[in-house]
Amino acid sequence: MKQAHPRTLVVFFSRNGRTRRIAQALAERLHADVEEIHAVQSREGLLGYAQSALEAMAMLAPAIAAPRHDSAGYELVVIGSPVWCWSLSSPVRTWLLQAALPHARVAFFCTMGASGASRVFDTMASLTGKPPLATLALTEHEVDDGPTAAIDEFLRTLQGPLPKSRRATAQPARARRTVARAPAKARA
Ligand SMILES: Cc1cc2nc3c(=O)[nH]c(=O)nc-3n(C[C@H](O)[C@H](O)[C@H](O)COP(=O)(O)O)c2cc1C
Repeated sequence: MKQAHPRTLVVFFSRNGRTRRIAQALAERLHADVEEIHAVQSREGLLGYAQSALEAMAMLAPAIAAPRHDSAGYELVVIGSPVWCWSLSSPVRTWLLQAALPHARVAFFCTMGASGASRVFDTMASLTGKPPLATLALTEHEVDDGPTAAIDEFLRTLQGPLPKSRRATAQPARARRTVARAPAKARA
């Protein structure tokens, strides 16, 4: 029997549009609602860059606009962030600190210049208190080059039946990591 789609939310922050592009592609294929996180203070220009870098390094949680969706009502929440200074972007940190995810399973994705994904995923797991079902890390080039096999594999994991070891009780280390092909050194 064909299973109905789990009620899914894709939530993300994007300063330059790459994380947004991946979020929209994932949402379309997951039949998901989309929540874009908006920082109250502009991230544009040199000042916005400097503020973003500072907040990420200091692990600050800046003000964000009120979310449009109540995360508590979803069975699967897919959370996306750019990598900032080898860290989670600060607006996503704020959202995670405020979000209620009582029933949801989670999956994480990020976009980046070259490195920092594993630290971002560890922070997301720590802030949600949940191991991800799957993770997806894409470099700017991979986003710009268009759909990758890594996106397909990430989606297959989320859409497939869940073996017991990947239910909410699984340890973070057992989660499947989907990292698009790139030189191993660039993944520190
Ligand atoms: C403040 C700041 C810090 C960044 N730090 C890193 C970093 O540590 N590692 C990295 O690979 N990319 C870094 N980047 C690049 C972004 O992660 C990358 O361009 C990402 O795709 C941007 O996503 P967006 O287009 O959704 O904003 C940084 C970008 C910004 C704005």
